[in-house]
Amino acid sequence: MTTLFKENEKFNRTFLLKAISSGKTRGGKPFVTLTLGTPQQDFEGRLWDTDLETLPSLLPGDPVNAAGTAVLYQERIQLKVDRIAGETSAIDPRSLYPSSEFSEEELGISWRKWVKKITDENLNALFAAIERDGAFMKDFLRSPAAVTMHHARIGGLAEHSLGVCALAGAVGEKYTWLRPDILIAGALLHDIGKVREYEIARAFQVSTEGRLMGHIALGIPMLKSYIEKVPGFPEALALELYHIILSHHGKLELGSPKAPSIPEALVVHYADDLDAKLDMLRASRISSSREGAGDPPGEYVRGLGRFFLFPGDEKPVIRKNPSGKTGADDQGKLF
Ligand SMILES: [Fe+2]
Ligand SMILES: [Fe+2]
Repeated sequence: MTTLFKENEKFNRTFLLKAISSGKTRGGKPFVTLTLGTPQQDFEGRLWDTDLETLPSLLPGDPVNAAGTAVLYQERIQLKVDRIAGETSAIDPRSLYPSSEFSEEELGISWRKWVKKITDENLNALFAAIERDGAFMKDFLRSPAAVTMHHARIGGLAEHSLGVCALAGAVGEKYTWLRPDILIAGALLHDIGKVREYEIARAFQVSTEGRLMGHIALGIPMLKSYIEKVPGFPEALALELYHIILSHHGKLELGSPKAPSIPEALVVHYADDLDAKLDMLRASRISSSREGAGDPPGEYVRGLGRFFLFPGDEKPVIRKNPSGKTGADDQGKLF
């Protein structure tokens, strides 16, 4: 398995502190054990001859600056830390947390590309009102789509919403009696409540309003506030968009108070489900391609409740994606 640090390599960088505890060697000397997170992988760190009392107060979830040397211990890289302190400089979340391979700018360009396809003037005015809310757009393009499970990364919400849009748009090209404007608007907006459901404070976490209301209920007043900025926005059109948000999980047991009851809502529901599940498989496929996986590589996919094999995958997974770029995965181009 590739690792960020080579044996004997010096490091001095920001990590996300994920765990901290103290211990004693057999000889009675104190040491501190740390789990230091990077967007790519976590590392075990050790501070020798130190106990928690002599360290500055650090809590799991804190960004920290640590310096030291990478050492090989039991065939794994361990970080021997000489100095650690809370990170005081401004931090780009992408340097701490897993993030989309697409930049905010790329995600924003893709969003615009889809919005431009909409021809209905009321929907155009609605998206103009949404895009005027710079704070919302910034959050939308940064937010994860989940804490774990699918698209749990910076930019994951936009990536997922654009993925749903691409799938729903493809269905609309085959079934031409569906209304493309409703498919696009519904797909882009179906999860807007997630901007408030999740926060990037100490790791990705569910906000209080997310815990008490969930993104489906949060999405309705958010969308309503933008609709109210468009004079004369048709009530029937507003209801259809609310319905797509309310029904996109498909059934009550999965959090939707209404089952999809217009054709475009059914499409957004299945596109949402497929995009989420494919992302779970993608994440599992990457981890199953690591050393030690079976042949063919396989992985239990918790979100789907069963074991998946990835026949044909080589170890490590290096393929050419459709753009011809070679990468550690083959997610491909951005829609
Ligand atoms: Fe959702
Ligand atoms: Fe979704």
